[in-house]
Amino acid sequence: MNIEGIDKEGIIELAVRHVCPGRVATFRQLGTVPVMGRRQGNYFWDLDGRRLFDVHINGGTYNLGHRNPELVETLKEALDHYDMGNHHFVSPVRTRLAEALIAATGKQMQFCVFTPCGGEAIEVAIRSCRRATGRRKIVSFVGSYHGHGGLGLRAGDDVQARSFLSEAPAEEFIHVPFNDTEAMEAALRGDEVAAVLCEIIPATSGFPMPSPGFYPALWKLCRDHGALLVADEVQTGLMRTGEMWASRGYGIEPDVLVTGKGLSGGLYPVAAAILSKDAGAWLPEDGWGHSSTFGGAELGCIVALKVLEIIGRPGVAENVRETSRHLAGGLREIQSRHPFLLEIRQNGLVIGLKFDNPLGGALMTACAFETGLWAFPAGFDRSVLQFKPNLLVDRPAADEALSLLEKSMELCETRFLGGRHAES
Ligand SMILES: Cc1ncc(COP(=O)(O)O)c(C=O)c1O
Repeated sequence: MNIEGIDKEGIIELAVRHVCPGRVATFRQLGTVPVMGRRQGNYFWDLDGRRLFDVHINGGTYNLGHRNPELVETLKEALDHYDMGNHHFVSPVRTRLAEALIAATGKQMQFCVFTPCGGEAIEVAIRSCRRATGRRKIVSFVGSYHGHGGLGLRAGDDVQARSFLSEAPAEEFIHVPFNDTEAMEAALRGDEVAAVLCEIIPATSGFPMPSPGFYPALWKLCRDHGALLVADEVQTGLMRTGEMWASRGYGIEPDVLVTGKGLSGGLYPVAAAILSKDAGAWLPEDGWGHSSTFGGAELGCIVALKVLEIIGRPGVAENVRETSRHLAGGLREIQSRHPFLLEIRQNGLVIGLKFDNPLGGALMTACAFETGLWAFPAGFDRSVLQFKPNLLVDRPAADEALSLLEKSMELCETRFLGGRHAES
């Protein structure tokens, strides 16, 4: 299907009828209904012809940019020989990907279970921890998001679980405020918890940063009380913080680590739960303890191997650190000119911008769209705009993103705030 020449309004009308009426209504409230046309590198083009610098990157999916040429080439070559493979069989490329992920994660890890999406990998993580510990309780953070699987939906903010009559018994899923070590200790007391499931920097809550010492204390509590630690790194992993995994930067070694989104470059879906020997103890006992036709599809595994190779290049980590520093300086300068930007939350390229208005992030989305920047508010805190450039953004591109951000803020201040937030 040729992207060029599609009638945008006609497609939106059809989508309202058959696909996502509620979503279109929400986008209309935000002031824009984006429909992706052409895409390449830092940009995608809306079907209306507008070019947008993508700093939402679909939560990390376009971690190496849109249609990264090396990845596109890898997938094209793979199509000459492969299809998805058969998920019942041993697969050379799936096995190699497991080996590479385990090598990139840590010596405590032994197994990989592959799934087509992060949400399903979270299901595997929770079920594995329950079986390994013989316990049912799962502790997670208030306002976290772990996908729309049955267990993951209950572990996350349970508004949607409730609206689909799918909430869990309160005693099985315990929600503890982020950064609250005392509440965590209280939840773990009694030694009945199977796992603490951590969205390492909760995206949907607007990227509040972990307090110094929070994760090491949490890790110790887990060990003291026999609970396993699960790191949901669907958004924070794969070098986004300048470390392969954000959890590593916070000094912890999880028993289970979940990755997805950017793992296969936004080209072919692959996600994984990476498990320690203990957490994955069911794997030698039960060959079909988890089964998923599209899980570990070979085409996706081949792309993911290339993704890991690219991310592992020394220049990439260095670029992330350099670009992060540069963005930090640029954002501080913008803040000095615009008190509307209340707070900058940043770890590497994981960045949340909190505005001085409860709907600031949402208002900014519409203005950014007009200016040529694609950024999206945090789902549970609309005052925050997610600002997440891809790993390959260099200094000139970072400057372009900063300039677009400032222009969007100026537009927002003029249009919605009577210009009162700009200093000059
Ligand atoms: C932190 C986190 N965990 C899990 C998921 C679920 O991943 P998926 O949408 O691939 O099922 C997401 C998706 O946004 C996420 O952000």
